[in-house]
Amino acid sequence: MQLSIVGSGYVGTTIAACFAEVGHDVVNVDIDEEIVASLNAGDAPIHEPGLDDLVAEHAGDRLRATTDYGAVRDTDVTFLALPTPSEADGHIDLSIMKAGARSLGAALAEKDGHHLVVTKSTVVPTTTEEVIAPILAAESGKTLGGDLDVGMNPEFLREGSAVEDFLDPDKVVLGSETERGASLLRDVFDPLVAQADDPPVVETGVAEAEMIKYANNGFLAAKISLANDIANICKEYGIDSEEVLSAIGLDHRIGSSFLGAGVGWGGSCFPKDVAAIIAAARDVGYDPAMLEAAVEVNDRQPVRLLERLRDHVDPDGARVAVLGLAFKPGTDDVRNSRAIPLVEALLDANADVVGYDPVATENFRETFPGIDYADSAESALDGADAALVVTDWPEFADLDSAFDSMSTPVVVDGRRIVTRRDGIVYESLV
Ligand code: UGA
Repeated sequence: MQLSIVGSGYVGTTIAACFAEVGHDVVNVDIDEEIVASLNAGDAPIHEPGLDDLVAEHAGDRLRATTDYGAVRDTDVTFLALPTPSEADGHIDLSIMKAGARSLGAALAEKDGHHLVVTKSTVVPTTTEEVIAPILAAESGKTLGGDLDVGMNPEFLREGSAVEDFLDPDKVVLGSETERGASLLRDVFDPLVAQADDPPVVETGVAEAEMIKYANNGFLAAKISLANDIANICKEYGIDSEEVLSAIGLDHRIGSSFLGAGVGWGGSCFPKDVAAIIAAARDVGYDPAMLEAAVEVNDRQPVRLLERLRDHVDPDGARVAVLGLAFKPGTDDVRNSRAIPLVEALLDANADVVGYDPVATENFRETFPGIDYADSAESALDGADAALVVTDWPEFADLDSAFDSMSTPVVVDGRRIVTRRDGIVYESLV
């Protein structure tokens, strides 16, 4: 099929390359000329395992990029994969989506024949039908349910395993209100489903598909927060939370993934999406108590980490090494990283902060240009009065003699990754 993808961020680039891989002809539309040039030259504009190879293989053949929205006219289906950031009060900010829909609609005004527009971005329920579809119809002059259909296809890929997650998903969710839209969506996904490990295909309505995405992320974020709540109780009792959580994970109704207790969840998705669905729920008159509690527990974890630090070291004037700045291992993304509230609180407490991350230092420096940065965990620890472990990078599990160069070897572990040994004062958050 001929597909167009509007937006070449994490999701847009990954799905464009993967749709090309399963045999579609794909054009990626983005306003950023640098990203477009990079894709056309066969270079992935973001770092994701396996993406470079796919872009290199298909660029100039089944995959091309352009800044010209007119390219969508030669395609059957367009996926909107534009950012949906948060407003200050947590509400979803749809301005980029609306602008994209206007440009897309204007381009479709000159297309003869039918077109399907699919929302790929995470949007609160009813956005596709009540916000995006009317813009598309007004700009294109097309008739909804006639020569224009809209659909919704939420994305569940994770940063760091985006290609693998997309090509081998747990499920495919296809939201449509018309048979023609549903049939086109099936045609798009059939080759992907055929090469994957037989994922269930959920055919549902458009607003249901929108909600499935929030329900998925909200549930996972709440699962981690519940694990943190339980782990905090364990900590107060002196009980080993890891043994407790791994035991409950053996119950197939609970499951062992996303029970990793620690300093909490960050990233570009969980915090934004949980805030957006809470704000949307309140707008329709419902107070989502569980999701609000999930945020509250998450916000408390960095505060608790600092309390554990204060049990051993007064941060005022102390040299504190922060190990791990990325929001999770395997990425240089620092958006909503737990290191951000921690470093802010340390600076407020007049600590002398040195940060280390294997790959995320430059991104973190943009927000915190004034702290010190080390180029290895060893040099961050050298002379430090305490170390806070914030991201579970595997290399932190191997740190050993490096602790000997600390001024006082206090290690406060927010991810239970450091191997305990004699000669260090080890304190875990949970
Ligand atoms: C998350 C979802 O997992 C994806 O399914 C979804 O598509 C994506 O958001 C999105 O909406 O775009 P991602 O943000 O890439 O993916 O990262 P995750 O691997 O889910 O981790 C999120 C946060 O939870 C990280 O800060 C991680 O350290 C934390 N986490 C994860 C825990 O604290 N404990 C765990 O057991 C697992």
